[in-house]
Amino acid sequence: MPKTKIAGIGMYVPDHVVSNQDLIKYMDTTDAWIQERTGIKERRYAHRTEETTTTMGVEAAKIAIERAGITPQDIDFIIFATLSPDYYFPGCGVLVQRAMKMKEIGALDVRNQCSGFVYALSTGDQFIRSGMYKNILVIGSEKHSFGLDFSTRGRNISVIFGDGAGAVVLQPTENDNSGILSTHLHSDGESAEILAMYNPGTHANHWLPQKLADFNEGEMGDMFMSHAMIDKAQNFPFMDGQSVFKKAVVKIPEVIMEALNQNGYKPSDLKILIPHQANLRISQYIQQTLALRDDQVYNNIQRYGNTTAASIPLALCEAWQEGKIKEGDLVCLASFGSGFTWASALLKW
Ligand code: COA
Repeated sequence: MPKTKIAGIGMYVPDHVVSNQDLIKYMDTTDAWIQERTGIKERRYAHRTEETTTTMGVEAAKIAIERAGITPQDIDFIIFATLSPDYYFPGCGVLVQRAMKMKEIGALDVRNQCSGFVYALSTGDQFIRSGMYKNILVIGSEKHSFGLDFSTRGRNISVIFGDGAGAVVLQPTENDNSGILSTHLHSDGESAEILAMYNPGTHANHWLPQKLADFNEGEMGDMFMSHAMIDKAQNFPFMDGQSVFKKAVVKIPEVIMEALNQNGYKPSDLKILIPHQANLRISQYIQQTLALRDDQVYNNIQRYGNTTAASIPLALCEAWQEGKIKEGDLVCLASFGSGFTWASALLKW
């Protein structure tokens, strides 16, 4: 059975740099608070109308495809991970198929938030190993800036997130010394509401026309297409930051060890760990827990913030571009996020 290798990798971030100082114009915060709690100095925001989650994904994909030495017409499956799709439906995968003039191939959207890229990578890995596809495009892309609460009410979240995209091309390899060794996916829905965007969603019928609302026993009350939803900020992400932090610092080291143990490695064998760029303090905590050296953990959250499904491919791409990942190196990707979901992938580059 073939293994799966990353044959090409690309990234895209918008030109517009937003510093912590820039955010002070909109909310009660400080550069010191943001840097001390999160490590973030600046992030990128996409152009309001000209850039979308899909267009950023396409830019990253073009580079990944070129680096893989193929063309968009060679791609036989698309997997697109995002929590900020261009449309509620259809997903971004089909928009990539259209934008890149690809064949009428399958296109799958993955909705696993910060774990989205590792879930997507794992899905692609199974299709390659089974022999079903030969060139899979996996994209993680987010346009968070479209929907954050930039008032003081939303400051605990809005200072953290940024926009960007990363992409990889997956291909089969018969080389024993390269490719994805294993992937590990987990979830625990008990805490689903701790990090979530509640609306628009079907759970409370907020979007029903009035007649249908009456038909449904008139339970809509003040929530009918109303400002109540907006007044309660349910159209913005909600996060209980401390609960997320506490769970992340346990689950990320656990899922890294799961991958290392399954393949007979120890943390000291890692050339580099690419953790989800949630918060620099979380990365530092993981580094300490696993007794890793500074050069074994890659962080770029300082410049991009948390880009959710894009964060791991963005960090992986930059680490590779900076020459920190070479052929045969042991690389671990590890994520944690809304759901909760957490995941890892161990690979030989
Ligand atoms: N600027 C200034 N003050 C802020 C602020 C901001 N941007 N955001 C929140 N505060 C205030 C709070 O209102 C609170 O004030 P109070 O003490 O007067 O009530 C105080 O700072 C502490 O808030 P708290 O939420 O307890 O801070 P914290 O130390 O937990 O840090 C996070 C907040 C979000 C940085 C931290 O919890 C975190 O990083 N959690 C993990 C988040 C994460 O990784 N999410 C992505 C998961 S994929």
